[in-house]
Amino acid sequence: MNTNERRQWSQIYFVLFAGFYFLALTVPAIAQTSPVDSRPYKETFRPQVHFSPREKWMNDPNGLVYYQGNYHLFFQHYPGGIVWGPMHWGHAVSKDLVHWRQLPIALYPDSLGYIFSGSIVVDSANTSGFGKKGQTPLVAIFTHHDPIKEKKGDSTYQKQSLAYSLDAGRTWTKYKDNPVLKNPGIADFRDPNVMWYQPGKKWVMSLATKDCISFYSSPDLKSWSKESEFGKASGAHGGVWECPNLFPLELEDTTWWVLLVSTNPGGPNGGSGTQYFIGQFDGKEFHPSGNTLKWIDYGPDDYAGITWNNTGARKIFLGWMSNWIYANQVPTREWRNAMTIPRELKLQRANEEILLTSLPVRELSRLGGPPVLLKDIPVEQTVDLTARWKDSADRCIIILHADEIKDFFLTFSNARGEQLAIGYDKATNHYYLDRIQSGRTDFNADFPKKYSAPRLTSDKELSLTLVLDVTSLELFADKGLTVMTSIFFPGLPFTHIDIGSNDHLLIGQASFSRLRSIW
Ligand code: FRU
Repeated sequence: MNTNERRQWSQIYFVLFAGFYFLALTVPAIAQTSPVDSRPYKETFRPQVHFSPREKWMNDPNGLVYYQGNYHLFFQHYPGGIVWGPMHWGHAVSKDLVHWRQLPIALYPDSLGYIFSGSIVVDSANTSGFGKKGQTPLVAIFTHHDPIKEKKGDSTYQKQSLAYSLDAGRTWTKYKDNPVLKNPGIADFRDPNVMWYQPGKKWVMSLATKDCISFYSSPDLKSWSKESEFGKASGAHGGVWECPNLFPLELEDTTWWVLLVSTNPGGPNGGSGTQYFIGQFDGKEFHPSGNTLKWIDYGPDDYAGITWNNTGARKIFLGWMSNWIYANQVPTREWRNAMTIPRELKLQRANEEILLTSLPVRELSRLGGPPVLLKDIPVEQTVDLTARWKDSADRCIIILHADEIKDFFLTFSNARGEQLAIGYDKATNHYYLDRIQSGRTDFNADFPKKYSAPRLTSDKELSLTLVLDVTSLELFADKGLTVMTSIFFPGLPFTHIDIGSNDHLLIGQASFSRLRSIW
């Protein structure tokens, strides 16, 4: 979100909030007269296998950290409304990346401002000194955003601060000497993401500083020195840079460094998007190998994603499943916005480059029964897959495999004639996703669109994993090389799936698993 948008939303939120209270006082019957199911997590449009807050507003994932058997998910949260407002850190935990339990709010705004995005590290060696009597502190590094300074036009309104927890993330104490990194006069100076850099035995922070990423280092998380900057002349610059995340990944016995950078606007299909760079990092500077633009997800709805800290060699990514173009307007009432499915990241060589692949974490399959398998399906005319699978498709994982990729389309639809279409177009070598007829689209003129994404491999075979969950579809093509995520709001769930091809696609194998709700 850029500064102007944020300012506008601060103003709009006051008006909306006042209006909301007025309505709540005068027409308390509105909620009761609606025919929809309003039990928590069962409301219309509520995702059933994705994390969404029990109520009110959510944006970026924050402070993802694995500790003592729990995956912690903190998130940008406004508990006072369903539009963006004064930011808190909401909190949820999971033992398996699939079932989530929301806990009390972890961090509240204070005299230094709202609590913007950031990260959490496990300070095992107690470098910060926050640990007492041998306790290991979890340390949160986040941006304090001062809305009053911002309004006054003082560009130093964002700075980095600390909080720590000595009870495995349940309660948090803000550091008394906050901020630990003051603002040097850069209006967009935020979203610190910190990791332990073992070769240099120091902490390294990646920080979004307007149009580049600045790297800082520290022995104790409290005093920070600037090391370098990266990116002024690299990557996509359609908007301000936000939410960096730097981490190592192995490929063929070589360590590569991956740098995720979100940008808004300027995403691959408009609005918010997350690009990535692969290269080397020496503890001071990041050097990308190659100049091609790479996106972790080409769909409209995967933003501000980062990975879990402290998971060893396994790297798990989570994104916010929305787009700043319309996130404040989507037609949910009790809560707003969900996260993507957690995805495992790996490196792969493709087209003489090293690229990132993302696939849903294997734990997701625990929500399904044994998959229904179909073999050797010639797709001459449209084939009704749901009739063959004999199950409703409203939330499911589908995996398709064909020895030879051909033009095809696949539609998810309902009895109202609403549909979401995906497919592959050989002439342009692009996948696409079309939500123009997907149901409620009237809340923002930019929502009903067709999006496309390049195919990034020259392999002949097609592999496609699709995760459908009431109001979202995540498409992972070619073992996760091309990903597209999209939300939508059908009047009835999409229960029906058809596939068609004008080029004699032969599907070698198709598997289908309906997923149980996590709530
Ligand atoms: C990204 C972002 C971050 C910021 C947060 C505020 O979506 O704009 O840069 O910290 O949201 O909620």
